[in-house]
Amino acid sequence: KRPAGAPDTSLARPVTKVGIVGAGLMASQLALLFARRLDVPVVLTDIDQERVDKGVRWVHEQIDMLLLKGRVGQDKANRLKAAVTGSLDRAAAFGDADFVIEAVFEELAVKRQVFGELEGIVPEHAILATNTSSLSVSAMAEGLAHPERVIGFHFFNPVAVLPLLEIVRGTATDDAALATAFGVAKKLKKSAVLVKDAPAFVVNRVLTRFMGEVLSSIDEGTPVEVADRALAPLGLPMTPIVLLDLVGPAVAHHVAGTLHEAYPDRFSVSANLGRVVAAGKRALYVHDSGKPELDPEVAALF
Ligand code: 3HC
Repeated sequence: KRPAGAPDTSLARPVTKVGIVGAGLMASQLALLFARRLDVPVVLTDIDQERVDKGVRWVHEQIDMLLLKGRVGQDKANRLKAAVTGSLDRAAAFGDADFVIEAVFEELAVKRQVFGELEGIVPEHAILATNTSSLSVSAMAEGLAHPERVIGFHFFNPVAVLPLLEIVRGTATDDAALATAFGVAKKLKKSAVLVKDAPAFVVNRVLTRFMGEVLSSIDEGTPVEVADRALAPLGLPMTPIVLLDLVGPAVAHHVAGTLHEAYPDRFSVSANLGRVVAAGKRALYVHDSGKPELDPEVAALF
C-alpha cells in the first residue's frame, strides 16, 4: 500500500523534452542535470540573447569538465552538448516540451506571468514546474486554465551534488502531475520528499532561521567573521556566510522577507543584508587568497 501523499506511479507521463525558463545560476545547473539524467533535449530561455548564451556556454563548460574528469565519455559529452540549446523564442522551443521548469526571479507576479505565457505554448499534457524556494505554488497556479499541472520542484545548490528535492503539491495539482514529478525525480537520481505548500517549505525555513540568527548577531555588532566562524566546531560543510553567498544575498534576503511576512515573530530581515542587496553585491566574501575575506565594499556598508 502506498503511504499517504505518495503518487500512483502508473499515472506518470513520459518526458521527452524539457524547457527551462531562465538561464541563470539555478536554471543552468538544472539544464545540465536534466540533459544528463533524462537524455532528452533541454532548451534554456531567458529575456535576452546574452543571458541565454551565457547559460548554454556554462553548461557546455561543465560538460567539458565532466569529460576531463572521466565522468562522461566523449560520445555522451557530444550528445549532451547537442541536447542543451538556448532560445529566445519560447513559443517555438516549448511547443513540444512535456516538462517546463521555471527558475526566474523570486517574485510571485513574475512567476505567474511566466506560467500564464507558458499555458498558451506547451502541449496539454505538459507539467509546469517551479523551482521557487519560498513562494506559494497554489498562488502561482491561481487564475490559470489548468492549475492541476503546476507543481513545486525545489532543488538545492549545488544541484549536481545535493541529493534533496522538495516536491510541492499545490491545492489544484493533480495525481498525474505529482506522479510525473516523482518519476522525473527518480530519473534525476534525487531523493524527493513531498512537502506542504507553506512559506519556504521545510529546508529554507530552517536554513533562513539559522542564517537569520547569525545575521542578527552581526546586526547587533558582532564582527561578521566572528559570528560566521563561531559555528565551525559543529563541522558544517560551509560556514553560514559562505552558504549565504552560495545561495545569493538577494535570494536569501527575499526568502527572509517572505518568511517574516508569514511568521513575523519568528523571522527577521537583517538590515545589514538589506544594505548588501541594495548595493547590488552578489557576495559578502571575496575568495582571492583562497580563504574567504569580507569584501571591503561590504565592510564599508556595515
Ligand atoms: N557543482 C558541481 N559539483 C560540485 C560543486 C558545484 N558547484 N561544488 C562541489 N562539487 C563537487 C566536487 O566536484 C566534488 O566532487 P568529487 O568528489 O566527485 O570530485 C564534491 O562536490 C565535493 O566537493 P569539494 O570536495 O570541493 O568540497 P566539499 O566537500 O566542501 O563539498 C559542497 C562542497 C557539496 C558544496 C559542501 O560544501 C556543501 O554541501 N555545502 C552546503 C551547501 C548547501 O547547504 N546548499 C543548500 C543551499 S539552500 C538552496 O540551495 C535552496 C535555494 O532555494 C536557496
